[in-house]
Amino acid sequence: MIYLIGIGPGSKEYLTLSAIEKVSSSKYIIGSKRALSLFNIKDKEVFTLKNPVEDLKNTLSKINYKEETVAILSTGDPCFSGLLKTLLKLNIDKDFIEVIPGISSVQIAAAKLKISWEDYKIITLHGKKENLNKLLNYLKNKEKVIFLPNNLSEDAKFLLKNGINIDIWVLENLTYEDERIYKINLKDCINKKFSYLTICVYGGES
Ligand SMILES: C[S@@+](CC[C@H](N)C(=O)[O-])C[C@H]1O[C@@H](n2cnc3c(N)ncnc32)[C@H](O)[C@@H]1O
Repeated sequence: MIYLIGIGPGSKEYLTLSAIEKVSSSKYIIGSKRALSLFNIKDKEVFTLKNPVEDLKNTLSKINYKEETVAILSTGDPCFSGLLKTLLKLNIDKDFIEVIPGISSVQIAAAKLKISWEDYKIITLHGKKENLNKLLNYLKNKEKVIFLPNNLSEDAKFLLKNGINIDIWVLENLTYEDERIYKINLKDCINKKFSYLTICVYGGES
């Protein structure tokens, strides 16, 4: 059985009891270094993923997941821009997958800014450059948006080139000690470096 486990945004405080229990009862644990470091893992076979897509395929090919228990750790919630899609693309039979939901970066961002996220369009540009046009249309239509950037400097360049010049909230490293939350104009994003863990919000007043 494969337990696809959402680990939340990164701090241990946001792990669910179910995530902890499934990790402790699984024989194999697969995850990034960052994800693995959240758990007290003893007497398990551990596989560290560097490239989630390729490494996951190779690792799963070595494990008899129909007979044994495997925990796969996924950032935030696995069902939002996470490893569920990757797993299904590998044609794993759904009967052998149980998803343990986690707290998504979207939820943490909404909580930090005190906004009700049902009022927002949610979109990821993460590995989906084609969604930039969707984001552009949302912003042209003055929709409120929460988005995961692909490369925020490049994304900002694209939006500015297409006539969008707005201030956005940038939320970096949420729940970590170096968490940063600030408002910034897209023009100022162009020459700035952002953490891999960055989520953006347009329209949140707080
Ligand atoms: C592969 S996606 C996974 C999204 C994840 N499934 C979720 O529900 O948040 C990784 C992206 O999620 C966002 N993210 C995840 N954790 C974050 C955090 N602690 N702070 C800010 N953004 C985060 C960033 O945009 C990051 O590049």
